[in-house]
Amino acid sequence: MTDKKLKLVVSTGAGISAESGISTFRDADGLWENYDVMEVASHDGFERNPALIHEFYNARRAALATVEPNNAHILLKKLEEFFDVYVITQNVDDLHERAGSSKVLHLHGELLKMRAMDDENLVFQVTPQTVTTPQTRIDGHLVRPHIVFFQEAVPNIEPAMELVEQADVFVIVGTSLAVYPAAGLLHYVRSGIPVYYIDPRPSAVPRGVTVIRKNATEGMEELYRILLKNMAGK
Ligand code: OAD
Repeated sequence: MTDKKLKLVVSTGAGISAESGISTFRDADGLWENYDVMEVASHDGFERNPALIHEFYNARRAALATVEPNNAHILLKKLEEFFDVYVITQNVDDLHERAGSSKVLHLHGELLKMRAMDDENLVFQVTPQTVTTPQTRIDGHLVRPHIVFFQEAVPNIEPAMELVEQADVFVIVGTSLAVYPAAGLLHYVRSGIPVYYIDPRPSAVPRGVTVIRKNATEGMEELYRILLKNMAGK
C-alpha cells in the first residue's frame, strides 16, 4: 500500500520567473517593459488601443522563445515525487509547464493562447512566433490575447480557492500580493497548516506565515530541504 501524498499548493507570481529574465510588474515603478501597466493590462486600455495591446503581447510571446525555466520552477516539478503538487500562477508565461509541472492553473491567462472576441470559451493555442493584430482571425473569429485584464473577472479563482482550502501545505513565491482576488487566496488556508512565503522583498503577511526572504531559486532550495525533512511521506 502506498502512502497518500500530502497536497502542496503553490501560488506563484512574477518573481518566480524573474531569474529566467522575465521582468516583474511592480519592481519598476508600475512600468512593465517600459509601458504603463494600466495601458497594456487593463480592459479600458484594450478598448482604447487594441493595436498596442496586440503589439505588446506579440513581443511578450516572442520573448518566451528566449527564456528557460529556472531552478525554482524545476524544484516545484521535483516536489511532485513527494507531494501532490498544484501550482496556481498569476504568470502568463509557460515556464511551469516547460519545467514539467503537471497541474498548473493560470489565474491571469496565458501568452500562448488567444481567444475569440465573440466567444470567450473559444480558445486557440498559438506559438511564440505568432503575430496578431486587431484584424487577425483564427477559424474565422477575430481574436484577442487570452489574458485577464484589470477590470475583468478571474474565471479560475473559484477552482483556485477550492485547491487552497484542501492544501496540507501552502506556499507563495514571488508575488507582491497586490492584486486581488489572487492575493486573497492566502485567507482560504485551513488554520494550522504550514504556510511559507518566498520573496526577497515580501509584503506584510499574517502571523504564522514563515517568510523566506530570498530570491526564488535560493528560497526554493531552502524550502525543498525543509519540506523533505519535515513532511514528505507523513
Ligand atoms: P509584482 O511585480 O507585483 O511582484 C513581484 C514580486 O516578486 C515582488 O514581491 C518582488 O519582491 C518579487 N521578486 C522580485 N525578484 C524576485 C526573485 N528573483 N525571486 C523571487 N521573488 C522576486 O508581480 P505579481 O505579484 O505577480 O496581472 O503581480 C500580480 C499581477 O499584476 C500580475 O499577474 C499581472 C500584474 O498586473 C495581469 O497581467 C493581469
